[in-house]
Amino acid sequence: MSQPIKLDINNMMADIIGARGITPTALEELTPALSKAHAAVQLKRGQGMQGWMDLPYNQDEVVARIEATAARVREQFDAFVVLGIGGSALGPAAVHQALCHLHYNELPKEKRGGPRLYIEDNIDPERMAALLDVIDPATTCFNVITKSGGTAETMSQYLIVLDVLKKAVGDDYKRHIIATTSQSRGFLIQIAQREGYETFYIPDGVGGRFSELCPVGLLAAAVCGIDIRGLLEGAKAMDQRCKGQDIWENPALLEAGLMYLSMKWGANISVMMPYADSLKLMSDWYAQLWAESLGKNVTLSGERVNVGQTPVKTLGVTDQHSQLQLYTEGPYDKVLTFLKVENFRATTPIPHGVEDIDTIAFLGGKSHNQLIEAERQGTEYALYRSGRMSQTITLDQVDAHTVGQLLYFFEMVTAYTGALLNIDTFNQPGVEESKVAAYAVMGYESEKHNAKREEMKTKPASKASYILG
Ligand code: PA5
Repeated sequence: MSQPIKLDINNMMADIIGARGITPTALEELTPALSKAHAAVQLKRGQGMQGWMDLPYNQDEVVARIEATAARVREQFDAFVVLGIGGSALGPAAVHQALCHLHYNELPKEKRGGPRLYIEDNIDPERMAALLDVIDPATTCFNVITKSGGTAETMSQYLIVLDVLKKAVGDDYKRHIIATTSQSRGFLIQIAQREGYETFYIPDGVGGRFSELCPVGLLAAAVCGIDIRGLLEGAKAMDQRCKGQDIWENPALLEAGLMYLSMKWGANISVMMPYADSLKLMSDWYAQLWAESLGKNVTLSGERVNVGQTPVKTLGVTDQHSQLQLYTEGPYDKVLTFLKVENFRATTPIPHGVEDIDTIAFLGGKSHNQLIEAERQGTEYALYRSGRMSQTITLDQVDAHTVGQLLYFFEMVTAYTGALLNIDTFNQPGVEESKVAAYAVMGYESEKHNAKREEMKTKPASKASYILG
């Protein structure tokens, strides 16, 4: 049984790091607002766009079907390609990185267990060309994931793949495509039903960035041999920890309170710094969750605001040698969150070999496991010394259960923080705006897109003098 993940907030607090930290009094004074936020999130559990809170509990049937489909895919295909973007890609990528071999695709088939995995979340023309250079469509399964069923990036990829498959395998193309989409709306469901594709549903109340623990993430994970029941058990365990209103019992509520206060005090940047390559893409997943959920210009009561906190993705120790200087001496506008792993899945001893140079000789006989944690502590200390806020989330080990806990923890923190900010955490009007504008630019004809095209003409014309080269 995996240990609960641990949240250490010592270096967030003014009584530890000094004046730029959060005071215990401020936290205490926030208690009524935190209780209210907790109650608001609990009240809407499973309703509206909070269907993701039910996912650890209501997927027995779908999990069994995912496992059966995954077994078929593993047997029949050499490669599994996810076509999706945003919430349809970041979760699958983060979980794969966390729970599969770091060079999974390069392993020989017997060691890999599942097909090679490619997550194609962009429409760079070179990217699709490159994918087609390294896969054989005849032995590849494509999972088209889009909740709206109309995202141009994903549906254009679908059209390309459909054409490629028809040329490669003829009528058998249907066996090579799995659709993951909304059951009730969008065009992908219509196509999937017409074509008879195997289809998984994204529940209505589960938005893209909250969808990792539904078929969006679970299918790719199961295909690669990840224990998806363990992921859901981990999420359930975190959900249980989040039941109460006591911030010293509910880690997500405490974290939401600290992040909310840090924002109020001018920390506009949230730096996620995993000290583990396996957790590197958790930063990408978190960045979308945090940015899209909290970056809003209006409160639920219609008050004009511009809230949010810019997430920054980093990796320890790599980015110590890139960004740490800024974090220790630049503006006081950041909170750093370390992700620490207590027990890595490998031990890498550092051999002796140079005995006559002290600074190198002393590394011999130690291990990378010791060194990476020493470096993390060094960074934590450097931040402490310059009075910067940081916190550490520790995973005893990276396994399906702890990763499930971590995903659900951040989802709860986001929901509570959105409630504290009194915003709609679950919409993304800014993203929709860019989707409509892009379709307008592409010449799509509809009332909405025609109007957008006209509106876009009112933007001041570019001045040649502002363009160099
Ligand atoms: O969180 C969200 O809702 C978005 O980031 C979506 O995941 C993203 O825009 C892709 O949308 P869709 O799944 O409809 O293709």
